[in-house]
Amino acid sequence: MINEQQVRALLGELNDPFLHRTLEETNGISEVSIKEEKNHVSVKLAIAKINSAEQMQLQGKVVEVLKEAGAATVGIRFEELPKEVLEQFRGQAKESDSESILSPNSKVKIISIASGKGGVGKSTVSVNLAVALARLGKKVGLVDADIYGFSVPDMMGVKDIPQIKEDRIIPVERKGVKVISMGFFVENNTPVVWRGPMLGKALDQFFKDVEWGELDYLLLDLPPGTGDVALDIHQMLPTSKEIIVTTPHPTAAFVAARAGAMALQTDHEILGVIENMSWYEVKSTGEREFIFGKGGGPKLADELRTELLGQLPLGQPDWNDIDFAPSVYAESHETGKIYLEIAQKVIEKA
Ligand SMILES: Nc1ncnc2c1ncn2[C@@H]1O[C@H](COP(=O)(O)OP(=O)(O)O)[C@@H](O)[C@H]1O
Ligand SMILES: [Mg+2]
Repeated sequence: MINEQQVRALLGELNDPFLHRTLEETNGISEVSIKEEKNHVSVKLAIAKINSAEQMQLQGKVVEVLKEAGAATVGIRFEELPKEVLEQFRGQAKESDSESILSPNSKVKIISIASGKGGVGKSTVSVNLAVALARLGKKVGLVDADIYGFSVPDMMGVKDIPQIKEDRIIPVERKGVKVISMGFFVENNTPVVWRGPMLGKALDQFFKDVEWGELDYLLLDLPPGTGDVALDIHQMLPTSKEIIVTTPHPTAAFVAARAGAMALQTDHEILGVIENMSWYEVKSTGEREFIFGKGGGPKLADELRTELLGQLPLGQPDWNDIDFAPSVYAESHETGKIYLEIAQKVIEKA
């Protein structure tokens, strides 16, 4: 039997769909009542705007959360937050308008790149997929959401840091991609030691305080695995679709399947699987050596009932000292061409 305190705790974590603040922060849980004999929970919630598609979405989420916690039936009423409260939050944050990237009305397609563990090439794939989409004429943003292990700026050879204009962060543009990373806000590559809530805030800022301008796609290089931050992001971005990166070894695919399971549990559509480090091509003979095993990508795609978007061989990009972006493959590079094919599939699917 669920009690009022539990109901308040659970619902307090959900976001007001317009203010992008939790119901706890907005004081949006107006009433909770529980009929014990019927195991019926009824709640009254105050949100920024009622009778909207966003309200419907929240309603679904509330029912889901409460039923999962043991309620047999759930009743919900909505009311509008008092004007003072609205103004307080609106004043604080321009992002609360419907133009926000996180708004359900936003046309920006958000794609998270996930993996079961680190070192499989998730960041390499994120960077090169972003660049490939830009090469195909799309307007692309890339969030390095691996807060502890940020690597995107170095991989792309970003030298600038973001400008701040009227309290908005202007992302750095590199290879046609707008980039934002924790790396920009840390001095001298010092390690970031943060606790959960601060992490959430930092990520939140990446979506709300960054002036992304017009975007077709926003890619997210997620932290590896299925930890708290990955879960937070899943919840923060209800409309995000996912790409799972794995290496070809069957055990790697097994670990990656967990990342896929998390995506599905949080209702995120999986666009497909990318297998990285699939083989090494021997220069002299053109023969493929399957150094890290074989079959992991197709197996994972099968397991997640999705498509294998592509397989990427082992090999570094050609380095160009004048325009140094050490992890970006040129358009003419064999691997660069594979990324273009993957990007084309992504455009067709998302
Ligand atoms: N296809 C590849 N061939 C050769 N090296 C690769 C390939 N993909 C990734 N790497 C290298 O492997 C390391 C880990 O890749 P990275 O993208 O940082 O992984 P993750 O973000 O999953 O931790 C990096 O040094 C990267 O340059
Ligand atoms: Mg990484």
